[in-house]
Amino acid sequence: MKLVPMAEILNKANDEGYAVGGFNINNLEFLQGIIWGAEEKNSPLILQTSEGAIKYIGMDYVLGMVEAAVKNTHIPVALHLDHGSSFEVVMKCIRNGYSSVMFDGSHYPLAENIEQTRKIVEAAHAVGVSVEAELGRLGGTEDDISVDEREAAFTDPDEAVEFVEKTGVDALAIAIGTAHGVYKGDPELDFERLKTIKEKLNIPLVLHGASGVPLEDVKKAISLGINKVNINTDFQQAFTAKVRELFASDEELYDPRKYCGPGREAIKAKVMEKIDVLGSANKA
Ligand code: 13P
Repeated sequence: MKLVPMAEILNKANDEGYAVGGFNINNLEFLQGIIWGAEEKNSPLILQTSEGAIKYIGMDYVLGMVEAAVKNTHIPVALHLDHGSSFEVVMKCIRNGYSSVMFDGSHYPLAENIEQTRKIVEAAHAVGVSVEAELGRLGGTEDDISVDEREAAFTDPDEAVEFVEKTGVDALAIAIGTAHGVYKGDPELDFERLKTIKEKLNIPLVLHGASGVPLEDVKKAISLGINKVNINTDFQQAFTAKVRELFASDEELYDPRKYCGPGREAIKAKVMEKIDVLGSANKA
């Protein structure tokens, strides 16, 4: 499989000041909608699978589909594990040809997160695979926690420096106010914190939970040093909205190609819109 290590894609983005999509795939329609959108925009692409998606699709099917997708593509593509939870899962993905992995030890105390991440970086780098890690805790979508509690979970800039020095990760996911899934209101991002982290640490930074974040805020975060923007929910919603619309307008509809095809087109259109915001068009 002709995959590119994520570090190659993100280091260029960091040097030139734009971001690349870490777009989650959940089935064939997602993969096709996403890669076709990126190809049309001539953009590099990070295709990512959560552990849940690997379980749903099956590892062999993920590999087969991605191999077919990248066989004739002209854009650089990385295949990345999103939120790997253990050394074993990470190793399984590396063994199967992933060009990048995330190890998420953000729920561990700092020293343990460092220790576990360091071991993974050592093994991954030995075979040319990139590593993303996370420091600080992403919010849930519930708003019933206090401001102090919310900020206590944000990434501490000095800890981020220590973490990167001791682990050697290629990219760092930081907590500055985003959350996975659907927001109740607009999220409030801590741009000052992002700016401080980037000043202390000039490596590619990752924004998780970017669905539903106002586009102006995403652009501002990129201008302050975010180089990878993770999106899943926005594509799920685009696909499902299209399918719902078709079901509502035609009760006789039963051929999956007649609703999954348009759903896939809706994902592709959303991908192209996101790539314009990220600034990665024509950077392939
Ligand atoms: P959203 O589903 O909120 O876009 O988050 C995706 C993500 O961060 C994957 O790691």
